[in-house]
Amino acid sequence: MVAPASRFVCQQCGASHAKWAGRCEGCGGWNTVVEESPRPTGRTVGRRIAFEPLAGDHVEPERLATGISELDRVFGGGMVRGTAVLVSGDPGIGKSTLLLQAMTALGELGVPNVYVSGEESVSQLRLRAKRVGQTQSPLLLAAETNVRDILASLDAPTQAAAVVIDSIQTMYLDGLDSAPGSVAQVRACAQELIRLAKRRGITLILVGHVTKDGQIAGPRVLEHMVDAVLHFEGERGHNFRILRAYKNRFGATDEIGVFEMGDRGLREVANPSALFLPEHDGDVTGSAVFAGIEGNRPILMEIQALAAPSPLATPRRSVVGWDGNRLAMLLAVLDTRCGLALSGYDVYLNVVGGLKVSEPAADLAVVAALVSSLASRPMPAKTVAFGEVGLSGEVRPVGRADARFKEAAKLGFGTAICPRGGETGAAPLKTLETATLTDMLAAIGEGEALVSPRARSKTVGHR
Ligand code: TYD
Ligand code: MG
Repeated sequence: MVAPASRFVCQQCGASHAKWAGRCEGCGGWNTVVEESPRPTGRTVGRRIAFEPLAGDHVEPERLATGISELDRVFGGGMVRGTAVLVSGDPGIGKSTLLLQAMTALGELGVPNVYVSGEESVSQLRLRAKRVGQTQSPLLLAAETNVRDILASLDAPTQAAAVVIDSIQTMYLDGLDSAPGSVAQVRACAQELIRLAKRRGITLILVGHVTKDGQIAGPRVLEHMVDAVLHFEGERGHNFRILRAYKNRFGATDEIGVFEMGDRGLREVANPSALFLPEHDGDVTGSAVFAGIEGNRPILMEIQALAAPSPLATPRRSVVGWDGNRLAMLLAVLDTRCGLALSGYDVYLNVVGGLKVSEPAADLAVVAALVSSLASRPMPAKTVAFGEVGLSGEVRPVGRADARFKEAAKLGFGTAICPRGGETGAAPLKTLETATLTDMLAAIGEGEALVSPRARSKTVGHR
């Protein structure tokens, strides 16, 4: 019998090649292609499977709630037994801390659980537990990287209900000759662990480090294998962290949990708006409050802009927490539709607190901050803004307007600049409905002063 040929697999994108190459054809990465030996093939004759009708009973999944409500929320009401979850994030962001806190909390509730670390020693884990003030939990610890040993230790009926593997990149399965962290190892280790989790009804939590370009090392193979992917994110230099569900077979995606990293571990932030709101009283130029929706929750956040005359032929555009392309689009729309020529200005944009905003609904608040900076006049006091801006300068309605209004009113805001045509009837605060950017400039009292006569003639009739 001819031995099956080995494969050459790119460690970055997972593309497989017939022979070794210095550069991967899939992703263009250099030196990423590694030889992987073929897996032995087993049975050759299939067994008939019994198909089942769609109509029938189903069982509600059993959940393990930690009591940390920001965490349980992201899981959709607690971790589901017998499922695998990937918790990814940059190194140092706090994954180990979060999971140690979650596991000690679960342990205190009487759930037998295990924390296996391939990165830290047991005594380091104890030190961390002491730091977060959880030393009495019955949680069991191990410092281990050999997956076969881990499997052998956990393969007993009541050994553990939840297991953390920190991190999957440090684990290895002997018998595979690639190094820990390679695609082949990550995939094989995860497969074995997930199989055990399903068989024993264990909630398996795999920690995965993210590579610089945002990929989970061991190219996203894990994302397909697990039931939920949670990403833990935050900006360096800021202490709040967001746990975000990207995939969840047992709960809503887009759900977020907000935490604050302190010197005694992570603390839940039940009212995130308070964290991201300006501390000044609306008297600062270049600042606007955006009534956003993160996950399922409304969050108010401050957006700051600075437009400064530029000596450069190509002025600087620098964006933190928002999409640079979107800023370029807004600047172009402001120029052509409102005559606000910012081409001679350096423009800096910052979402305060280090939040990353991806909603187009932030457009209006960004425009407000930009215009306020350009005019050197603060936004009207106690005002929030939200709305998407289109290429012809129109302001488009966005979803969940009622939730945004309510959150703004709850935090003491009296006015909302919002798109026309939304559900503003029952809003608990004053609404300034805008159909175009020109309306919007008028709403914040900057219409005439900023717009050049050339542009004013252009915008006539544009409504
Ligand atoms: P860690 O959980 O080790 O990150 P990860 O597992 O994602 O790599 O978190 C490490 C960082 O968190 C480290 O820089 C120290 C900081 N930290 C605190 O600020 N307070 C604390 O109570 C703990 C435990 C860690
Ligand atoms: Mg860690």
